[in-house]
Amino acid sequence: MRQFLVAGNWKMNTQRATAVALATDVARGAASATGVEVLVCPPFPYLEAVAGAIRGSSVRLGAQNASAEKPGAYTGETAIEMLIDCGCASVILGHSERRTLYGETDALVNRKVKAVRTQGLQAILCVGEQLADREAERTEQILDGQMTGSLEGVDGDAVADLVIAYEPVWAIGTGKTASPEQAQAAHAHLRKWLAGRYNPAVADGIRILYGGSVKADNALTLLQQPDIDGALVGGASLSAANFLPIVEAGVQAQGK
Ligand code: 13P
Repeated sequence: MRQFLVAGNWKMNTQRATAVALATDVARGAASATGVEVLVCPPFPYLEAVAGAIRGSSVRLGAQNASAEKPGAYTGETAIEMLIDCGCASVILGHSERRTLYGETDALVNRKVKAVRTQGLQAILCVGEQLADREAERTEQILDGQMTGSLEGVDGDAVADLVIAYEPVWAIGTGKTASPEQAQAAHAHLRKWLAGRYNPAVADGIRILYGGSVKADNALTLLQQPDIDGALVGGASLSAANFLPIVEAGVQAQGK
């Protein structure tokens, strides 16, 4: 059975004090969330402060991006070694904001996935279609292209604890959530793709998170879908009062 993963992507939000307070509250609240893995992904400058705040709890630390390069002359970049040094266990890669605002291509995301896996960190690979793609019924084609490009040459052990996040771009930060049926259809398609690219056992073990306007009031119906194994939460992860009920929905949806 796949364990639920509820991850908070704080994006470029919080300051040191609010990050520590939020992480402390999440760690306290998550203590009772038996069976659900909880991950927080603060901005780079606060990784260490948040690592301190969650120390001793079950909450894990993740980063929102990483360089594919080894440490060296790459102004403004953050090496995977540095993330590990700060206590990160996971890293979000290929988020649509990285793809659309910073020009990240599948080829670059692929290099990042490989580098992250070589270093033993968990990669959370984001894929998702734009509104125009969905309207033109090109969703599956777009997802296939992103998966093929981002996972080229990623084989064997490298896929062991890979996590996929399906985030339809039109649902991110818009308040428009994919319906549970739309999300389930995309997740089932991604799992079928994984079964073809790898094998059914690998596909069965990989967690596929849904992201895009997940809130306390829509989390449960999404998490009850058979192929939805957790949530990647943006806006609602910025307050423990909004985030913890989503974790709780994971507890309730377990064993569905
Ligand atoms: P929102 O939950 O704010 O829509 O953001 C989703 C997201 O991009 C998580 O990575």
